[in-house]
Amino acid sequence: MTPFVFHNPVKVLFGKGQIEGISREIPKGARVLLAYGGGSIKTNGVYDQTVSALGKAGLFFKEFSGIEPNPRFETLMRAVELARAEKLDFVLAVGGGSVADGCKFIAASIPFAGDPWTILSKGAKVPSAVPLGIVLTLPATGSEMNAYAVISRAETSEKLAFGSPACMPRFAVLDPDTTFTLPARQIGNGIVDAFVHVLEQYLTYPADAPLQDRMAEAVLATLIEIAPQAMAEPPSFEARASLMWCATMALNGVIATGVPQDWSTHLIGHELTALYGIDHARTLAGVWPGLVAEKRQTKRAKLLQFAERVWSLKDGAEESRIDQAIARTCGFFESVGVPAGLKSYALPAETPSIVAKRLDERGGLPMGEQKDIDAKAVQRILTLAMGL
Ligand code: NZQ
Ligand code: ZN
Repeated sequence: MTPFVFHNPVKVLFGKGQIEGISREIPKGARVLLAYGGGSIKTNGVYDQTVSALGKAGLFFKEFSGIEPNPRFETLMRAVELARAEKLDFVLAVGGGSVADGCKFIAASIPFAGDPWTILSKGAKVPSAVPLGIVLTLPATGSEMNAYAVISRAETSEKLAFGSPACMPRFAVLDPDTTFTLPARQIGNGIVDAFVHVLEQYLTYPADAPLQDRMAEAVLATLIEIAPQAMAEPPSFEARASLMWCATMALNGVIATGVPQDWSTHLIGHELTALYGIDHARTLAGVWPGLVAEKRQTKRAKLLQFAERVWSLKDGAEESRIDQAIARTCGFFESVGVPAGLKSYALPAETPSIVAKRLDERGGLPMGEQKDIDAKAVQRILTLAMGL
């Protein structure tokens, strides 16, 4: 286990009826930017509950709507202008990961001197951010309890990430009831996103971190266990509650402590979303079979552990156990409606070289836990995945 500093100050308000609690969490006298997406919160009562809580606390607020999936810099900068003009000093994000991420960028950009795009393009430091709270309506990204955000720029077809402790939410409200209006596609996406977040932090090489391993395996096994009830129509409240907490625990820093991390499935996937508009989670299930085929030898010890502890594959030859673990994982993605592999997207034949070039030019290579995934390896991973 390598040395680490762990600090996660996000206060979580979990369960039925917790939206009301924002009236106690936002400082008295704050001027609030209430930001949301395309309107789902207006159809499921989340908007009404939020506005009622703000009213109860006597808080002044201005609304900004229209933060799109894969939130765009161009849209977010309009919110920054509104917040600056109205002297808003608290950002309340109400929605899924895109709204949460978009609001982190808004919060960082309001006080930022200079061009906020440089936070993403050049890794410019975020010296401060306006305080932020999140009411989450889609369990998937973990954004509600971490410092990261992924922002797209339509003009250049880029999708870039940044992270800053200044953007850690002050609080996150997780009420599973808010997920009941989600289409099956988004629940499936959420399950896959959370699962792959854990794989990025777990499926590397042994690092003498047995507690982190067991915690990661617990999240994976729980996702497998609750997925059918979370996908069912009508869904089970308890399964949705577990999904919500799994997705948060998958990317709040706990299982990442002191262990190597991969993230190449995500980095390649972000390029596919930027270029072809494929849903985030679908890019992950699409790329992962290629990644694991390419890195089978370097990930071998953890693949065997994953096979035994998550998929109960204890007997037979090692190669066959690994094959079965990969096949079962792909089957799991498919069982929640997310294709494993990229064949079904019929991507242009030149995709592997385009993606490798974009990652390389941005200085993102080599990547992976061994820093051995170079442009050629990216091309092999995508070529493999596009054939599956
Ligand atoms: O915009 P509205 O109308 O709210 O509709 C949204 C959107 O169309 C809808 N939705 C959300 N909650 C709903 C609902 N519809 C009905 N009922 C509800 N309760 O769902 C659609 C998708 O929402 P979105 O926020 O885009 O999905 P998700 O939460 O999966 O977020 C994906 C984004 O998060 C980034 C991804 O790259 C992508 O941009 N990620 C952020 C991470 C982080 N900050 O740590 C890590 C992840 O790996 C990921 O990269
Ligand atoms: Zn993700």
